[in-house]
Amino acid sequence: MVDHEIVLCRDIAELSRQSAERFSQLAPESVEGAGRMSVALSGGSTPKHLYSLLASPDYSNRIRWNNVELFWGDERCVPPDHPESNFRMAQEALLSRIQIPAENIHRMSGEIQPQAAAAEYEKELQKFFALNSGGLPRFDLILLGIGEDGHTASLFPGSNALNETKRLVVAPFIEKLKSFRLTLSLPVLNNAANLGFLVAGPSKADAVKQAFSGSSDLPAARVQPVNGKLTWLITRDAAP
Ligand code: 6PG
Repeated sequence: MVDHEIVLCRDIAELSRQSAERFSQLAPESVEGAGRMSVALSGGSTPKHLYSLLASPDYSNRIRWNNVELFWGDERCVPPDHPESNFRMAQEALLSRIQIPAENIHRMSGEIQPQAAAAEYEKELQKFFALNSGGLPRFDLILLGIGEDGHTASLFPGSNALNETKRLVVAPFIEKLKSFRLTLSLPVLNNAANLGFLVAGPSKADAVKQAFSGSSDLPAARVQPVNGKLTWLITRDAAP
């Protein structure tokens, strides 16, 4: 049974504040539990507002960043200083503005050969979460977006990556983008303790409606945490 919540927000500003509140409230609980909080950041443009808010004095002083471990849910296969890099976006909006130890930042190596980057990140997850073979990492929080086609992270409709049941990280070639991507696999997403979709704008309304329909096999609809909480933070103009 999926424990899920839908939070309707007036606009991106309210969505970002609601998300920041949840992030800062979650941090102490997770840290007290395991002494650290593991978060996989989403890419794209929507979360940029949230990251900037988390770096602002309103929030950055409420979060013990040395106990927060930052990962990525997906990455473009580009260098970290490339305009399309999800790492670069987070670096500019958040990482460069907070006191977080460099060893707490677990970047996907978008600059190297995609399959090698996926294997490297899988090893990083296995080491950090002290996984046995076949074990799944359990992130305290995974942030996600949704594309107009219903993709999430870099799991796109029709991609073989959606059928991955063993590997933690895969590097699918995305036909429509004519490029490779790096992404956590569905089993990893669905093993998280908390998943948060951040969705803004009328262009997402149809994808959200399909994802909520229950019958959809859109990648975003396949995010169904096995034992975790799923929260959709949606602006009103993106709500079905
Ligand atoms: C990426 C993301 C992707 C994103 C959606 C929504 O690397 O692009 O991880 O899944 O969340 O495409 O992107 P926007 O927030 O820009 O609409």
